[in-house]
Amino acid sequence: MLNENPAQPIEPPEGSTALGTGKGGVGKSTVAAHLAGESAASGQRTLLVCVTGQDDDDLGIKRFGRGTHPTNCPTVMDGEGLYRAIHDRTPLQPIREVRPNLDVVPGGPRVGEISQILMLRMLQEGPGVVMSLARSLAPIASFYDRVIFDSAPEDDALEQLVLASAKYLMVPTRSDTSSIGGMERISKNFKVVKQQANPYLEVAGAFLYGSNRSATLMHSAVRRQIRKTLGEGTPILDEIVGYREVPARNARELGLLFGEYAEMLPNSATKYDVKAGRATEAEVVPDSIVPLAKEMRTLNQEIFDHCRKEA
Ligand SMILES: Nc1ncnc2c1ncn2[C@@H]1O[C@H](COP(=O)(O)OP(=O)(O)OP(=O)(O)O)[C@@H](O)[C@H]1O
Ligand SMILES: [Mg+2]
Repeated sequence: MLNENPAQPIEPPEGSTALGTGKGGVGKSTVAAHLAGESAASGQRTLLVCVTGQDDDDLGIKRFGRGTHPTNCPTVMDGEGLYRAIHDRTPLQPIREVRPNLDVVPGGPRVGEISQILMLRMLQEGPGVVMSLARSLAPIASFYDRVIFDSAPEDDALEQLVLASAKYLMVPTRSDTSSIGGMERISKNFKVVKQQANPYLEVAGAFLYGSNRSATLMHSAVRRQIRKTLGEGTPILDEIVGYREVPARNARELGLLFGEYAEMLPNSATKYDVKAGRATEAEVVPDSIVPLAKEMRTLNQEIFDHCRKEA
């Protein structure tokens, strides 16, 4: 039976921001988690919605049991909560207080199955299905001052679902050609969603992530390429978070944000402790966490500023 349900726009919550680009591994999840953490730490009630098939658990929800799970449903982990909300057309049920003021709808493998539901429903209901996430968010949106979306790369249906729910798009990229190419994909999805479903959507900016901070000539070339792909007027952020593999990896392993991990530095074991057998390598907090945390914080502030400017 046909059920007419055109893409009725729903105005996304003020300050709702999606991190997205068509390429994997460029820093979307890391930046989304930090942006949400920074927002919550500043006293804003914040919701992080992870529309990703992979749960990186940057906030230690799964591995360290952080946050309070909703009691009236079986599980929301591994993307199950997001899947259920879309499948059953019910409001999102976040995990509460993962940090003070921070609630999270976690991603995970079940999110990958949402595309199939959307494709099937598309046949019966038409383009309105792209609003599925926006509809599940709407009943709880007023509870939050800011909503951050993490998105999945290389899946147009999921990318469009996120773009239909957010007010601002922030595009991270690395400097390699395939990351730049990934922006073409988000650019296409942006145009389609803005035209057909979410006229409120704006590109708030793009930024180069995880790069050698002193390679300024290369950065200028990348900025030109970003503008060519996303449009000449695209704001490009100044801050470039450096490529710092060890602290980034350790922080994720511990389910800590960079700033939280940096706080462990004064009490960290040293290389001498490791040599003397008093500690393991994993217990040594690298000094490089300090600049990494600082750069991420600056980037987060810049992202908030650009979204405010767009508003
Ligand atoms: N500043 C950094 N320097 C080095 N490595 C980093 C940095 N920030 C994050 N990483 C690491 O880079 C990898 C990719 O980051 P992330 O998972 O945030 O990317 P993504 O775009 O979300 O990837 P996917 O598309 O697979 O979801 C991760 O292993 C992460 O820990
Ligand atoms: Mg990711």
